[in-house]
Amino acid sequence: MEIDVFTLFPGWFDWFRSQRHVANALAAGHSLGYVSYRDHTPLKGGQVDDTPFGGGAGMVLRVDVMEHALRARYGRDPVDVRGERRVIALTPGGRMLDDALAGELAAEPALTLLCGRYEGFDQRIVDHYCTDEISIGRYVLAGGELAAMVVCDTVLRKLPGALGHADSAAEESFSAALEGGPEYPHYTRPADWRGWTVPEILLSGHHEEIRRWRLEQSRRRGAGGPEGPLP
Ligand code: 6GU
Repeated sequence: MEIDVFTLFPGWFDWFRSQRHVANALAAGHSLGYVSYRDHTPLKGGQVDDTPFGGGAGMVLRVDVMEHALRARYGRDPVDVRGERRVIALTPGGRMLDDALAGELAAEPALTLLCGRYEGFDQRIVDHYCTDEISIGRYVLAGGELAAMVVCDTVLRKLPGALGHADSAAEESFSAALEGGPEYPHYTRPADWRGWTVPEILLSGHHEEIRRWRLEQSRRRGAGGPEGPLP
């Protein structure tokens, strides 16, 4: 998997790439590259955004700046690049990220993530250079960078070799193994803390019964839907 992130703040990703599962994915041969809009802008003073036509607050990332950055990275017309790889604009109103979309993205050979300011992109960027618009929730962030990290995090951990244990990603919250439901509760030592004991079934060693109990717990937690478990 080759991921390129286009951003105003490439330095934000130094911390991200040092996280263990990200570092593992990179060591396994996956790549995470950054392109700074400011390094490629044709405008004076490192300008990358501008005031919106028609008025209004905030700044909008310029289409010419995006074209220069994409051309610098891919060496060709960015309109053609989107025929070769998923080019994703991170926007609050985009398709909501969930486990299924993360799995879809993890199956791609290459992704391009475009971060904008909170007022977003000139619409021509989305219309002509992008294949997708993705949001991480119905709230507004100051920019797409944190959302790009969320996308990278959930995609990279699905790749072979990123997690310590091969099964960790298969049977986790919202996976098909749990029928799309949230994960079952986990317990570890001590088995008794202040009289708060661990469900006996988990100490029984009966793997098939444990599996059934966990699926039942996951179903029960899922019964409340996205608002959380029923009381
Ligand atoms: Cl992808 N970008 C911004 N700026 N805000 C968001 C978001 C993305 N997803 C949720 N809020």
